[in-house]
Amino acid sequence: MVSFGDVTGGRGFGAPMRFEGSVYDCEVVGKVPTSLNGAFVRVGGEWFYPPMKPDDSPFNADGYVSMFRFRNGIVDYTGRWVRTPRFEADRKAGRQLYGYYRNPFTDDPSVRDPSRPNLRTVSNTNTFAFDGKLFTLKEDGLPIRIDPKTLETVGSYNFGGQWTGETFTAHPKLDPETGEMIAFGYEASGLASNDIVFQFFDKAGKKKREVRFKAPYVAMLHDIAITEKHILIPVCGYTASVERLRQGGVHWHWDSKLPSYVGILPRDGEAKDVRWFKGPESSTVHTFNARTVGNKVIMEAPIGTSNPFPFFPSIDGGPYNPLGGRCFLRRQTFDLNSKSDGFTDEVVEGTDMTGLGRIDDRYTGRDYRYAYCGFADREKPFDEAKGGPGLKGRVTNSYGRWDLSTNRLATYFAGDAHALQEGCFAPKSPTAPEGDGYLIGVASNYREMRSELVIIDAAQMQEVARVIMPFRLSSQVHGNWFADKQLAFA
Ligand SMILES: [Fe+2]
Repeated sequence: MVSFGDVTGGRGFGAPMRFEGSVYDCEVVGKVPTSLNGAFVRVGGEWFYPPMKPDDSPFNADGYVSMFRFRNGIVDYTGRWVRTPRFEADRKAGRQLYGYYRNPFTDDPSVRDPSRPNLRTVSNTNTFAFDGKLFTLKEDGLPIRIDPKTLETVGSYNFGGQWTGETFTAHPKLDPETGEMIAFGYEASGLASNDIVFQFFDKAGKKKREVRFKAPYVAMLHDIAITEKHILIPVCGYTASVERLRQGGVHWHWDSKLPSYVGILPRDGEAKDVRWFKGPESSTVHTFNARTVGNKVIMEAPIGTSNPFPFFPSIDGGPYNPLGGRCFLRRQTFDLNSKSDGFTDEVVEGTDMTGLGRIDDRYTGRDYRYAYCGFADREKPFDEAKGGPGLKGRVTNSYGRWDLSTNRLATYFAGDAHALQEGCFAPKSPTAPEGDGYLIGVASNYREMRSELVIIDAAQMQEVARVIMPFRLSSQVHGNWFADKQLAFA
């Protein structure tokens, strides 16, 4: 086996752990709220075998799902690989068979099949609960169903044959009042196609209808926003072509000459009703939320000015500019009465943040007050001398709560030598007011080389408990809180 130290994943805190396991009644500092009954379920990537391409994207690492199960103030942990068809093929071969992220032309001949790129998914991006079922998601394939009690992989899922399209987003939306699921796939009819399909399901899992249309160009359509009346579809400067993939390159290249777009589709509309608003080069990978007010549609999102990911190169071969990936909380307003394809764009507050925006999900598509995001508090710099090797530069050491009624920022600092992964909001009860709950997320303690789950009172932005893990957890992309009733936790 090639050493992990030679390739992506490296050594130090990010080195793969490669085991599955459970820890019962985890060590806790502070007091876990007894009202929190459910699970924080997170997924990320960890290489089971080292990547075939040493410069591959971390997005191509095998999915690893983990769960902190909360019961009456006690927390149990379980972590398992997502056993995708690709994972099982690698295990059978005893080596890595798959090449670059989303380039099947670079795969080992034994598994190479560019006509079925969705079989290559590692399902490492998001967790999702719908119709009592738990899934891991990645936008290049179909959902993988996971047993919520054991985290064992059940298998690929297409909603009982109802889902049409090759791919399913990592960010489906649930209407908090109707329970409707609005989901989409892009590159929906094959590799580097610009086809998008939106599909609408009722809360019981029955598909109601679908809408197909084309994106202005083949782009990474990672996240959307919904309102009570509209769907917003950000398109930004990543692009792909089958020719470049055939030549053995990576899937995405950033083209700074491409405009950004936001498509707006009425929730009851058809393909002809999509309206594309056009803006300058920018990157909207995730959204916070959106709402429709009269004839205006308003969205807040963490938005950067250019390429957010250094492992996806510039199409002109130019150097990566890290400033382009710095995000700010921006508000974009689209006037449906306007004959122009332009829109207004303003910075709400001047602190730069990660690109991972969260809200109290009970307010999805509605008026809301609080936006949550990780950020690097420059007044609390990481101390390399105390923190051990491997962590340099700016570190996401804090969670912020942006109050959109005052544009003020309240902060939580995870501690010296700690870096935070994405947190999520869990309400104190189903009827608690917006923001009355907890932020839950995983911190990497570089000094002790272990992970810690922090539980923060979101109204006070103060920590109430910290779950101490006896080892490092694999890196996370997204994590979500699921109350008992959302999943079949008996
Ligand atoms: Fe995401």
